[in-house]
Amino acid sequence: MYMSIWCHNINLSSRSLAIALVVCVTLVYFSYSFNACLFASLTRTLQQSNLRNLLTLQQRNESDKATSSSTGTGTGTGTATDVGVASTVSLFTVSILNTTSVGLGHGMPSIDGAPKYQMLRQQGLRPSRHLPDTLIIGVKKSGTRALLEFIRLHPDVRAAGSEVHFFDRHYQRGLRWYRHHMPYTIEGQITMEKTPSYFVTKEVPQRVYHMNMATKLLIVVRDPVTRAISDYTQAASKKADMKRFEQLAFVNGTYSVVDTNWGPVKIGIYARYLERWLLYFPLSQLLFISGERLIMDPAYEIGRVQDFLGLKRVVTEKHFYFNATKGFPCLFKSEARSTPHCLGKTKGRNHPHIDVNAIERLREFYRPFNNKFYQLTGINFAWP
Ligand code: A3P
Repeated sequence: MYMSIWCHNINLSSRSLAIALVVCVTLVYFSYSFNACLFASLTRTLQQSNLRNLLTLQQRNESDKATSSSTGTGTGTGTATDVGVASTVSLFTVSILNTTSVGLGHGMPSIDGAPKYQMLRQQGLRPSRHLPDTLIIGVKKSGTRALLEFIRLHPDVRAAGSEVHFFDRHYQRGLRWYRHHMPYTIEGQITMEKTPSYFVTKEVPQRVYHMNMATKLLIVVRDPVTRAISDYTQAASKKADMKRFEQLAFVNGTYSVVDTNWGPVKIGIYARYLERWLLYFPLSQLLFISGERLIMDPAYEIGRVQDFLGLKRVVTEKHFYFNATKGFPCLFKSEARSTPHCLGKTKGRNHPHIDVNAIERLREFYRPFNNKFYQLTGINFAWP
């Protein structure tokens, strides 16, 4: 009898032992898988954020080259000079840059071919070029460059450095050509392009629609009279013997008939062009930015743009300061306020004096078109 109890006990304890062993092995297995997963995810996040920094750095360099603007735009308070963009990136990125031979400061060579990307590619983070998701389509001389420079401070926005003019001048070259002009992005980043003449070019709405009917469209608009004077000022800066604004804006030298064939006047009839866009895109895909407010309160307008693009509000009032010498808002390229930057000399020019009667006549001319534009957009821009 003692023997049978002993055997029974042995059986029980070996079963318990087996169960304990199975539980232990299972626990070890799960803990190992969990840790491996956690480690991979941390590594991936770290690399993604560094690649993002790297791409942003490259974009800044391209942008600085494109605008070649910041030096000399202002003296005095917060003079804009591009001092070492590297200070805006994380130490980790800087160390990557230092330990490899890629000369970002001299323009990025083939980002794809660089050995340091091999590791990232293995992680599935291969940067690639995409057709734009968002376009700044106009309007010329309303603050389009300012808008682009401000929004591209966002780490999730990457933009072509210069105006590509694909939809109006190079359409026959095809979408492959266009894509090749786009910057490298990684997953989650928006590709943007700005060409202000798109807004007024007849064929463009349909062409953009054919590329991607979900394209988001940003349109900066400004009082059409000031816009016309700005447009004229730019043209006059390139041509020494340019006639006076008043001679060009009206037919027969009197202020009775406005010359609607003259580009600077014609472009200001915004409603006419908008109607064409609305044939292809719903209003919800268009965001109108006030050129006046972009100067008075850039953070407010950039906040709206970030919301519209579904981006976190990263660019805030901390990125802007008013440069009294330039008379315009300038920006800090990081929240650390380490790299002040103003737009170039070609942005924020002094306008010539224009006869007040000419201005009054032009205001009268634009009024019905402006009202139509307010009606179409549902926004009263309150232009005089
Ligand atoms: P002016 O140079 O006539 O003042 P665009 O970039 O579309 O060509 O627009 C140029 C206009 O942007 C400038 O016209 C200027 O008024 C306006 N602008 C808006 N914000 C600006 C900024 N922060 N710095 C310089 N110009 C700015």
